Amino acid sequence: MTERLRLRVNEREVEVEADPLTPLQSVVHDLLGLRSVRLGCGVGTCGACTVLLDGEPARSCLVPAALASDREIVTNEGLPDDHPVRVTFVAEHAYQCGYCIPGFVLAATALLRDAPDPGPDEIDAAL
Ligand code: FES
Repeated sequence: MTERLRLRVNEREVEVEADPLTPLQSVVHDLLGLRSVRLGCGVGTCGACTVLLDGEPARSCLVPAALASDREIVTNEGLPDDHPVRVTFVAEHAYQCGYCIPGFVLAATALLRDAPDPGPDEIDAAL
């Protein structure tokens, strides 16, 4: 059964019609067209689906869309083109195949906000 869900994505209020248990990844990617929020493993291990949920990295494949209502959702599309993490990933050729890189960029953004000079253990844990 579907419901009308209100979400705040990249500083924009949106409404979608979806089953409240639909994974947030599917709602954001398929219904809102934000293609950076990709489905990889679908079980919370790969990070390809990472979004910032109230500023914290979240595996959106594991979050029922209804639980994201009235929370601040940020996807890679919500970062400015000149965001320092994005610019640095390009400058350092850190893109590998590119499929999961939006998740890495968001996880690194949250890490550097909380720990501007992280050590290897913090980087391992965050990424
Ligand atoms: Fe792999 Fe969500 S798709 S963690």
